[in-house]
Order: sequence, then structure tokens, then C-alpha cells
Amino acid sequence: MELIAGNWKMHHGGRDSLQLVEGLLERLIAPLPGEVVVCPPATALFMVGDRVQDTPLQLGCQNLFYENGGAFTGEIAPIFAREAGVRYAIIGHSERRALFGEGPEIYRKVQAAIEAGITPILCVGEQLEEREDGRAWPVVLEQLQESLQGLPPEKLAGLAVAYEPVWAIGTGQTASPEDARYMAARIREELKAVSGLRILYGGSVKPDNVDGFMELEEIDGALVGGASLKAETFARLIYREKKG
Ligand code: 13P
Repeated sequence: MELIAGNWKMHHGGRDSLQLVEGLLERLIAPLPGEVVVCPPATALFMVGDRVQDTPLQLGCQNLFYENGGAFTGEIAPIFAREAGVRYAIIGHSERRALFGEGPEIYRKVQAAIEAGITPILCVGEQLEEREDGRAWPVVLEQLQESLQGLPPEKLAGLAVAYEPVWAIGTGQTASPEDARYMAARIREELKAVSGLRILYGGSVKPDNVDGFMELEEIDGALVGGASLKAETFARLIYREKKG
């Protein structure tokens, strides 16, 4: 089933997140075209989790730690996220890789999420120089191999992988549908043993360009930043209505 996830990053505290959820619920009439996941900041998870219970919206978080308890100041235990109602976790987002030095531990986060009953949305994607050097696929392959090491395909059933080229995030510039299709096809081939795999595209997805990605057979959904921050725009994107 199609999966559209809104990554609200460090925008919207609890009250604004709730307001955005109310705006979405007013506009989204079940059944939705697919699964819709909202990923508010961690401080809003419980509030939003309570509100989206028994609605068509699902709750996601933007990061997780790989331990379920202990002296890890500031971290988020997967089981605590699950308690708040989290079903999906964005893991290895490029902002976490670039700004917080994430990398080697990502596979442990993927594993811990799965063990807590949370579906990972694993993010991969190349930088602009890497694309220009013709290394987009080798870079993404290495990220996949590193992020999924030691995890047998049967454990990964239902995994979502978001291909988010770093240069397309927040820039208004997207990958061409052909490049996104190519990368999604390579990812699918690499993970062909994973049942129920979903591949999302992310990077400046808007109501006006979402169709170009969603109509591709290789792409099952989108991971959306800026265009998920307003109910009206996010709802149009979900229903693929170009003009409001
Ligand atoms: P934008 O949609 O704002 O480019 O952000 C994409 C993203 O990083 C989603 O995780």
C-alpha cells in the first residue's frame, strides 16, 4: 500500500503539531489513498499519538536510540516511542548523518525499532558531488549495506527505504523521475529478498510534482518535509490535487 510520511523535523511544538493534525483530520476523508504517517518532534509524540488513535493517521518518530533503557541522557527508547503510539521511525535521515555524525550505529537502530514493533523508514541518498562523480548508486549501496548489516531479510519484512538525495532536500530541486526510478529499482533489486519492501522518494516533494514519482511502478510513496507542514498543502499532496 502507498505510504506518505510527513517529516516535520524540528518544526511545530506540541500545540502546533496538534493543530496541524486537526487540520489534516478535517481534510482527510477515509479511506485514504494509502497510509499516511505524521512524524512530529519527540516532545509532541504522546499528544499526537493520543489524537490520531482511531483515525486514518499513523504516528512516526524522527529518530530512535538502539537501547530500551539505561543511562543514555537525551535519547529515545524504542519501547517508549511505541508506548506513545509510534508505528514508524525515520532512521538515518541525512540531517542526522550530516549534523549529528550518525552512520555506524544505524543498523542497531533499525534492529531495535523492528524489535519494538516499529517499522523503520530507512533513509539513504547521495550528496551532489557524489552524484556528479557518477557515484550515486555506489554511495547508496554502501549506506544500505552498512545500515542493514547482520539483519536477515526475514527480519526486515515490511521495511520502508526512503531514497532522499541530499541535494534535493529543502532546495526545491528534485531528482528527475527517471533518476528516482533508477535508484528505486537498484534498491529493490538489492533488497529483493525482503518481503513487503516499500521504497519512498524524498526531496522537495510538493503537490505539483508528487504525481511524477507516485506514478512510477518502482516507487511506493513519499517522505515529505516542507510540504507536510501545512494541513492544506499536505492534504493536497496526499490526494494529489495540483491546485487548491
Ligand atoms: P523537503 O521535502 O523539505 O525537501 O524535505 C525532505 C526530507 O528531508 C524529508 O525527510
